[in-house]
Amino acid sequence: MNKPIALATNNKGKLAEYRAILAPMGFVIFSPADLNIESEPDETGANYRENSYIKAKALAAKVNMPVIADDSGLEVMALDGFPGLHSSRFASECGTYPKAYEELNRRLGDNPNRDARFVCCICYLETPESKPLYFEGICPGKLLKQAHGSNGFGFDPIFHSSEIDKDLGVAEEDEKNKISHRGKAIKKLEIYLAIQ
Ligand code: IMP
Repeated sequence: MNKPIALATNNKGKLAEYRAILAPMGFVIFSPADLNIESEPDETGANYRENSYIKAKALAAKVNMPVIADDSGLEVMALDGFPGLHSSRFASECGTYPKAYEELNRRLGDNPNRDARFVCCICYLETPESKPLYFEGICPGKLLKQAHGSNGFGFDPIFHSSEIDKDLGVAEEDEKNKISHRGKAIKKLEIYLAIQ
């Protein structure tokens, strides 16, 4: 089985993780760039679900295959969940990820509560008119004081996973995928797709 799915992202890190998990299940993942399509709608939703739907809907209107979109973020508990929904924008505003790590630690100061989590919401649209289906996952952990390693992408080097007791910047791809917010959400999507 070679079932095509379009993934509404231009984020290479996300794309690699979807491919790693879904390719062995017989899914072929196409990014907008693979399809020579531009799809960058404004993410104006009030939460991850709304943003994932905005992204899925925009791409579904341009392709002839089922679509998935992923909206995700890092939430630092002592900062009331910041940067959360705006993680990508926050990193851009800081200029680089290392500067964003520093800025998070500056905002946290001496606060002993370093609890953080990654959150992922996948929206699946079989066709542009289909009812959107949502699959979610959470990855609990702690914000590190210093970045460690360079594996993964985005905020991975500043994140310690409680579930594998390992810094994600030094975790292998398959280790991260087993416990990550995205890995968990994809697992749920995979179960749904398997029974269709
Ligand atoms: P989105 O494209 O609006 O969903 O942005 C998600 C942002 O959250 C990414 O650009 C990263 O900054 C951050 N993020 C989401 N998932 C991960 C992850 O698995 N590792 C590291 N950072 C992540």
